[in-house]
Parts: sequence; structure tokens; C-alpha cells
Amino acid sequence: MKYASEELKNEHEGILLGLQILEKMAEKAEKGAPLPAEDASEIVEFLKLFADKCHHGKEEGILFPIMERYGIPNERGPIGQMLSEHVEGRKFIQGLSSSISNGTLDTSAFAKNARLYIDLLRAHIQKENNVLFPMGDKLIPESEQQSILKAFDNHESTTMGPGIHDKLHGMLDTFQKKYL
Ligand SMILES: [Fe+2]
Ligand SMILES: [Fe+2]
Repeated sequence: MKYASEELKNEHEGILLGLQILEKMAEKAEKGAPLPAEDASEIVEFLKLFADKCHHGKEEGILFPIMERYGIPNERGPIGQMLSEHVEGRKFIQGLSSSISNGTLDTSAFAKNARLYIDLLRAHIQKENNVLFPMGDKLIPESEQQSILKAFDNHESTTMGPGIHDKLHGMLDTFQKKYL
């Protein structure tokens, strides 16, 4: 059977690639090497839309509430921990956004928030992949897995709209060649 968590784990791979690109940009910013503000802005938009709105939205709005129903604790438990990390991540994303204005980049604020976000999200993804998702896979039955996957599809089409997913992957490809 297909576990709903597999879809989220695939998305983690895309997010990790985005973080690798962000890391290279942060290195450039720290070294004073040229970094176009538009590139910085595009990767921040990717993280906002794909990592936060789409991916964290699926976790918060669909998977986590079902995990809770099957006995995984929220408050003072693994779900609560993941939710508070999403909130913390949004502060760094906000910091990244604020470091870019009117086509100019505040390189030190960009690099600082990028480092904090990268460290937080890499550890977060490890915890979901290795601890929380395997717990959920054991508890959530097959019939429920299918309805979660359907709800993921709906969420994706309402939050991102048609063609956006492909457009974001195209952007990652371009940046991968340019920065990695
Ligand atoms: Fe998460
Ligand atoms: Fe996740």
C-alpha cells in the first residue's frame, strides 16, 4: 500500500534541495560575492509557497490531526514539537523576506536568517522522516491512507493552483545548475 507519508517524504527531498541552494546563496552573501536579489527572492518564494504553505499545510491541516486521532500526542508530544518548529521557521522566512526590499539585499540579515532556517528545517525533516512518520504509518490504517492522499491533492490544487508545482521544479533545476 502507499503511505501518505511517502508523498511528504518526497516533498522533503525537494525542500532539502531548496535548502542546499539557499545555503550556497548564504555563503555568497557572507563572502561578499555577488548574489542577485531576484535569485534570493525567488528561493524565498519557493520556501514560502512549497515548503510552508503547501507542505506544512498538508501536515498541519490533514496528516497531524489524523495522527492525533490515532493516538499520537500533540501537546508535549511529537506533533506539538513539529508544530512549534513550523512556527519558528515562519519567523526565519519572515526575516529572509524582510532582508530583500526594492530589489536590494541586506546580505547579513539574509545570511543569518538563512542559516537559522536551514539548521531548523534539516533537523525537523530528519525527525519527521525517522520518528513521527514511521509512528503514523504503524497506526493509520490503509483505508485512511487513501483519503489522506486525496485530501493532499485537494490541498495542493487549492493552495498552489495549476502549473505552479512544475514551475517551482523548473526554478529548482535552473538554480541547481547555477549554484550547486
Ligand atoms: Fe513539518
Ligand atoms: Fe515535513
